[in-house]
Amino acid sequence: MVDTSTPPLAYLSGFGNRFETEAVAGALPVGRNSPQRAPHGLYAELISGSAFTAPRDHNLRTWMYRIRPSAMHRRFDEIPAGTWRTAPFTDAVTPANRLRWDPWPMPEAPTDFIDGIATIAGNGDAHAQSGVAAHVYRANQSMTDRYLLDADGEMLLVPQEGGLRVHSELGLLDVAPGEIAVIPRGIRFRIALHDGPVRGYICENYGNPFRLPELGPLGSNGLANARDFLAPAAAYEQRSGPVRIVSKFLGRLWETRQDHSPLDVVAWHGNLTPYKYDLARFMAIGTVTFDHPDPSIYTVLTSMSDTPGVANCDFVIFPPRWMVAEDTFRPPWFHRNIMSELMGMVRGVYDGKAEGFVPGGVSLHNSMLAHGPDAATFERASAAALAPHKLEDTLAFMFESRHVFRPTAAALQAPNLQPDYDAVWNGFTAHFDGGPPAA
Ligand SMILES: [Fe+2]
Repeated sequence: MVDTSTPPLAYLSGFGNRFETEAVAGALPVGRNSPQRAPHGLYAELISGSAFTAPRDHNLRTWMYRIRPSAMHRRFDEIPAGTWRTAPFTDAVTPANRLRWDPWPMPEAPTDFIDGIATIAGNGDAHAQSGVAAHVYRANQSMTDRYLLDADGEMLLVPQEGGLRVHSELGLLDVAPGEIAVIPRGIRFRIALHDGPVRGYICENYGNPFRLPELGPLGSNGLANARDFLAPAAAYEQRSGPVRIVSKFLGRLWETRQDHSPLDVVAWHGNLTPYKYDLARFMAIGTVTFDHPDPSIYTVLTSMSDTPGVANCDFVIFPPRWMVAEDTFRPPWFHRNIMSELMGMVRGVYDGKAEGFVPGGVSLHNSMLAHGPDAATFERASAAALAPHKLEDTLAFMFESRHVFRPTAAALQAPNLQPDYDAVWNGFTAHFDGGPPAA
């Protein structure tokens, strides 16, 4: 059991801007990044999350001042990867079908965050630093003496049940359902549970790091505002005794042991840092006349591909919001999309489906697969009185990718895969009345 008090947090003034924090007065050197002797006998170490030569607006790096260099460890030896899988996904034929899963059950055996990761689907290629994987995590044990680093990608955590404390090299973050956290590629961390079992989703992003989307004609405000992203204050562990560090590298797990915590950073400055965000602070924008914008209007974070405007992955949410459009079918329309859409539910009910898509579950609509409201939702929305109406108690999200999501063999064989999701779209009656001949 860990203390559930909120750790000290500080505002990032924006991605790309300077941020600095120290747990001990004077631990941050002034005017030098790597002085001959760092303050308080600390070691200076740089972690780069972008190429050294990336443009300033895309450059991510942090200087850490730590008790020991992170290089001080023995060799890694491979350990079983459990149910965590990595792109390219080739262990099963990717069906040309819409798929939906009920929630993954909580484990009964002692399970920590690493053990409880089960991969649903993914795309791209971790070797090429392209694509994403979607996982669920379930845990009933805190990580106490073992730590994780993911060299394959950054981890976007979407808690669905239970609160987490992320103990990272750069400090602590408490994250609860309704919030998200992002842990950069390569940062060492462990996950502790606040109280009781946890479950949630992970977007493991092999590609360009998530960042705020451009706002275009929206202007300088709206959607997710930079000031609402929280970075941890420096906090270090000074513990001795054997600990294990698990490194995920090219889809395999490797483990080493050392006699001190890897979370021994006393001060740091830079912009490569774990961060959290409360999704309730998202300023949703929608129509005030008719029709509704494409769902990209709900993008919280985007991982850019090398093609402008085409995302490696967008993280999109469907939060509580007012619906006011006139003469408009208000739920999501029927559509087919070149992008591929993997959705999850944090809480409540999704306005596009009458039933079957529940918190902890997942739906997958891959490229060009037809989807939209079910028949019950269509009938209800077509007859609804279009007074202003607020969607309450709902929080769905989507990982939307330019690459087709390829489910793992385990996900396709999972007992919680719904056997006949296609039946959702049964029962649409042809209402076409023939009409008069065209003039
Ligand atoms: Fe869709």
